[in-house]
Amino acid sequence: MNPNLLTLFKLSLILAVNTLMTRGLSDADGVDLSFTQRPWLLQCNQTVLLLEMERCGEQFSSDMNHVHPEDRCNLTHFIREYHVFSFCTEMNAERIGCFWPNPSVERFIISIHKHFFSNCSLEHAAFIDPPDDTLTLLIFIPVFLTLAMVVLVVWCSKRSDLLA
Ligand SMILES: *[C@@H]1O[C@H](CO)[C@@H](O)[C@H](O)[C@H]1NC(C)=O
Ligand SMILES: *[C@@H]1O[C@H](CO)[C@@H](O)[C@H](O)[C@H]1NC(C)=O
Ligand SMILES: *[C@@H]1O[C@H](CO)[C@@H](O)[C@H](O)[C@H]1NC(C)=O
Repeated sequence: MNPNLLTLFKLSLILAVNTLMTRGLSDADGVDLSFTQRPWLLQCNQTVLLLEMERCGEQFSSDMNHVHPEDRCNLTHFIREYHVFSFCTEMNAERIGCFWPNPSVERFIISIHKHFFSNCSLEHAAFIDPPDDTLTLLIFIPVFLTLAMVVLVVWCSKRSDLLA
């Protein structure tokens, strides 16, 4: 399989699992996290979300310009830029009260992949998976951060119920 596709596939799988787990958690606890009862739980605004994602995309685009054109399919050369981009989408989505990942963010990330990596193929023999350790870390840091946020929110809401 084309390594580019494989990476995309892995990423999509992780995003899907992550979303399911997030939903499962909030269902199991009977807490509707999207419903804002508390002032610090912001309502996700899709317009603002897309603007934020575009800002992350522009940053990624300018970061990628610093990578030599011949190295733009070599993950070793842009893994740092990609990580910054991924982190940017996650932090900003959560800052404005949106879940990460969510369908709009996923669509945006896929469009970014298509834009930057559509020319990367086996013929160029340059787009390789990073060492498994790096990939695992890259994938699981956001997953755990998201889970930790959800657990924290659920825990806090339970706690404030108890204290009330
Ligand atoms: C989302 O934000 C935009 C820009 O700040 C605003 O015009 C719009 O009314 C907001 N939408 C909702 C549903 O709050
Ligand atoms: C991909 O290749 C096409 C045709 O060779 C070129 O026009 C385009 O700019 C390339 N895209 C990227 C992101 O390098
Ligand atoms: C990617 O870049 C690294 C570091 O410069 C290099 O060692 C590796 O051979 C490159 N991989 C490919 C497939 O070009």
